[in-house]
Order: sequence, then structure tokens, then C-alpha cells
Amino acid sequence: MTLPSRWPAVLQAVMQGQPRALADSHYPQWHPAPVTGLMNDPNGFIWFAGRYHLFYQWNPLDSDHRYKCWGHWSSADLVHWRHEPIALMPDEEYDRNGCYSGSAVDNNGVLTLCYTGNVKFDDGGRTAWQCLAVQNDDGTFAKLGPVLPLPEGYTGHVRDPKVWRHDGQWYMVLGAQDRHKRGKVLLFTSADLHAWVSCGEIAGHGVNGLTDAGYMWECPDLFALDGTYVLISCPQGLAREPHRYLNTYPAVWMSGAFDYQTSAFAHGELHELDAGFEFYAPQTAVAQDGRRILIGWMGVPDGEEMLQPTRAHGWIHQMTCPRELRYRDGKLWQTPVRELEALREDEHHWQGRADDAPDLDGTRLEFELSASHVKVNFAGALRLVMDDEGLRLARASLETGETMTRYWRGDVNHLRVLCDRSSVEIFINHGEGVMSSRYFPDHPARVRVEGASDITLRYWSLRTCMIE
Ligand code: FRU
Repeated sequence: MTLPSRWPAVLQAVMQGQPRALADSHYPQWHPAPVTGLMNDPNGFIWFAGRYHLFYQWNPLDSDHRYKCWGHWSSADLVHWRHEPIALMPDEEYDRNGCYSGSAVDNNGVLTLCYTGNVKFDDGGRTAWQCLAVQNDDGTFAKLGPVLPLPEGYTGHVRDPKVWRHDGQWYMVLGAQDRHKRGKVLLFTSADLHAWVSCGEIAGHGVNGLTDAGYMWECPDLFALDGTYVLISCPQGLAREPHRYLNTYPAVWMSGAFDYQTSAFAHGELHELDAGFEFYAPQTAVAQDGRRILIGWMGVPDGEEMLQPTRAHGWIHQMTCPRELRYRDGKLWQTPVRELEALREDEHHWQGRADDAPDLDGTRLEFELSASHVKVNFAGALRLVMDDEGLRLARASLETGETMTRYWRGDVNHLRVLCDRSSVEIFINHGEGVMSSRYFPDHPARVRVEGASDITLRYWSLRTCMIE
């Protein structure tokens, strides 16, 4: 270890911070969230040796982005999570400014992490190393050091390795910025995870006719799904449009044909992956039974995050629920994994005029709503309007108090909504679209459906399921 140990400070932060976070009325009761400090990207999501593992970008020392280690949770069922030993801390020269995002692979039975060692220089410059770490018998990780330096032609912004195996060969996609400050996704291949060969650029500015694609693409993930290939990534610097790309940065998906021989990915248009206020840096894993599961960070960097009220309780951000992905009719469908149904308590049904519907307790709630023209009022702090154009989700800016709106355009006939104490995830038309958002209501939060039209409602309160 070349840098001074931060273990005592981390331990003290957790001991002091966890009781404060858990006492906050906005602390989630069934979504994974940091016990203290700031959590951002999901990392290293994998099914390995009988359990799901979900690592995460974590600053246990403060609710800001200054320090980044890898926290680690595991689960047998994607619902009940338990804490595992912290996996990576920035204690080497090559990762001294953060163990940044990455992925996990099963290398012949060894759980292996691929992550970015982020290094900042005093003159404002930076570099990045793609690094490996392997799991020890006691669940901790041993770093193997860098395996890939900064590739020629790119700035110090090259990061977030997502690695997978295909036909006995390893592949890695990386988010990157070229020397002209344009965002790219790079592909590399390796026989052994140690020696990597460049296969070029597979997406970003100038690839597949894409122009004005932003200055940096983060957190790429490329996978086969239902007869096509899907690339997910987070382009920074995309122009805002009237009804999409309204967050500081979006997460997008594109689909097409990927050829392992030529490394060409002939993809179509970019689509926003989630139309809500908070969603970024998602990562997928293959479930035990072959399903493609996605978990995202229910947050966005550099926006209003630092104004969220939970920071006064020493913590910030949470994950989305795990979602199953399917590709059908040219669209990427997302639905909550079926395992989450284990959280449901008694089922209730109601039918009639929306205005006459009972108030629901939004603390931990799932409801399905069949309707055409209605409003849903989430404790006065978040409002959803459903009309002929689609959906509008509105809330007040934490900075200015002005109303901010997010949109999903299209015919809507069915909503499935999952609520936790400070979040809602709205699944549209059985997964055709999703809007994920945080909100900070007074509790108990009343959720009320409003309008003169007839609706059908099915709802459950959800069990508490805290990380153990
Ligand atoms: C995305 C991101 C990644 C980076 C990590 C650092 O939110 O900026 O590109 O690896 O966060 O925490």
C-alpha cells in the first residue's frame, strides 16, 4: 500500500453516519442506498457462485464526489441484500483519485473486477488506468494493478470498463473522449484479461453517421438481447430537446448488428433509456436463468444533486429497482424483475371515478393503474399528468422553486408504479417506457389519483427490506 490508509476514517464515518441515515424519513426501505455518504454508479453487477453481486461507487467519508471506493452488496434473489467487505479503496498511485466504475467477470471461478484507476495531476490534467482485482477467500479483493494505459488519441477521460466473454475471448467496452473532445465508445479484446488489443471505436461522434454526440460518453454496456445487440451508454453534452435529454446528462440505448469479426456495430438511433428526473450510469448482468437485468443509479451528476435534503442526514442517492430488459418491435422494454413481487403485502382492487379513489400510503407502495386521462398527485411534491400526448411528470426545482417537467410521449393505457420513501419508478404500458425520480415528501406521503374519468386500480403496500 503506497498511500496512507483511510480505513480508520471510513470506519468512523460508517459508525457515526449509519444511525443518522436510517433515522431520516427519506431513507429508502427497500432500495439499496449507502449507509452513509454518497453512492453513485452500480458497478460489477454479476451472478457469481450462487449469488448476485452489486458493487457501487461510494464515498463513505462525505456526501460529495471527492473520494471513490467500491462498496459491495450481495443477494440470492435481487430483493434481500447484505453488506460485503468494501472491495476497493483508492490506495495506490494508479488509482489515487478514485477507484472509478467498472465491471465484474467470472474468470474460471475467480471473481475478477475490472475498474478504472483515476489519477489527477496538480496542473489540472488527468490520466486513467484500466485495472484488475481478484477476490480473496475472505471476500476481500487483491489488486493486480493496471492492465491498460490511456490509449493513443484520447484525453484522460477513458473509463468504466465493461468486460464480457464471447467464444473464449474477452471483450471490453470503454467510455472515452477523443483529443478533439468528442465522446466515443472503444472496444478492446484480450485472451487473458491482461494483454488488451484495440478494436477501434464502436459508437460516438463520427461513428455510424452520428454527429453532435457530446464531448464524453460514460459507462458503456454492450450485450446481445432477443436477436439484436444493444449498447447502453451515457453521453455527456447532448443537446436538450423539447421533450427529451432534459437532465444534465442522459442514459441512452441504441440497437443494431454487432460483428465480432470486424468489430463493427451498425446501430440505429439513440433513445433515452429513462424519461424521469433521476437515472444514470446503469449496468446490466445476466441472471441465473439468462434474463438480462439492469440496475441504474437513481441520480444524475452535476445537476441539483447537492441540494437534496438527505445530505443534511449525511447520505445521498439510491439505486433503481432491478429491471428485466427485453427487445421487441424495435423497442427496449423494461419491467421490474418478478422477484420484487415477494415484497407485496395484501392486494387491493378498486374501480370507479378517479376522484373517488382512496388515498394510498406512498411510503412503500406498488400500484397498477389502467386509465387514459388522469393525474397522480404524489404528496403534493411530484405530479403526473396522463393525457393524449403521453405523460408529464412535474416537480419544483430544489434550486429555484420553478416547476420542472419531464415527458414521455405516446399512447398510455397502463402504469405500474413502485414507490419507496423518496422515489417513484413509473413503468409505462408494461415496460415500453420508464420514468424514475426521487422526491422528498412529508411522511406519511399520500398518493392520490385525480380526474373525472373511470380507472381501475390494483395496489399493494410493500414490505420493508433493508440491507443486512
Ligand atoms: C458516472 C461516472 C463514471 C465514473 C464514476 C466516478 O457517474 O462519472 O464515468 O467512473 O462516475 O464516480
